[in-house]
Amino acid sequence: MTADPGPAGNPLAGRRIGATSKTGRKAFKGMAPKAYRIRVMEPGEAQRLLSIERRAEATLIALGKTELLDAPKPEIFEFVTFLIEHEVFVAEEKHSGEAIGFVAARDLGELYWISELSVDPDHQRRGIGRSLLSAVLERARWFQHRAVGLTTYADIPVGAPFYRLSGFAAVSDADSPPWLRQRKQAETPREAPRKREA
Ligand SMILES: CC(C)(COP(=O)(O)OP(=O)(O)OC[C@H]1O[C@@H](n2cnc3c(N)ncnc32)[C@H](O)[C@@H]1OP(=O)(O)O)[C@@H](O)C(=O)NCCC(=O)NCCS
Repeated sequence: MTADPGPAGNPLAGRRIGATSKTGRKAFKGMAPKAYRIRVMEPGEAQRLLSIERRAEATLIALGKTELLDAPKPEIFEFVTFLIEHEVFVAEEKHSGEAIGFVAARDLGELYWISELSVDPDHQRRGIGRSLLSAVLERARWFQHRAVGLTTYADIPVGAPFYRLSGFAAVSDADSPPWLRQRKQAETPREAPRKREA
């Protein structure tokens, strides 16, 4: 699925979005629901984010994706490598200061690609998933990407219907350039070839 991030405007021109920069804490001010904030990932958070990802998988399993029960789980070193390859925006609970959700996305030139979005089950259905998507769309606007893309499940509410709420639309194979078809194939589990949309 892809979304047009909208007209460009780049308050971060020439700056790096980094964990130590004040901009990383202030850039997404006001985007999250009241008791939360969105910020960039900070050092030392990998283990916490991995546990959020594992806990969030329960939502997918409860919605019928039982094949995930047998899917290999990434080890921490694989997950750290994954994080290094991405920009990671975190939803933090204000009163505890703890990360409770995150989105990992990467710059693919014209496209800004979302590889992972997870919210801890204890904090779901409070608008945090949508806030994290807003942060990604905002980041894509700043850096003038033409579109934001991802693959997801077509047949469960936290898949395509959830992303449609934030303006994403499905792109058919026929309308996809070859590189997008390849990315979709790479992210589609073999046992569910028609269950994902790009
Ligand atoms: C997808 C996910 C990130 C959504 O996070 P969230 O913080 O609960 O999302 P929001 O509160 O912003 O939900 C926005 C809307 O999406 C829909 N939605 C979200 N979760 C839903 C669920 N479990 N069942 C039905 N609809 C759901 C609802 O329309 C919801 O609005 P509402 O609560 O006002 O009805 C979270 O469910 C998750 O981590 N899931 C496991 C990993 C995953 O599915 N990743 C993305 C798909 S590959």
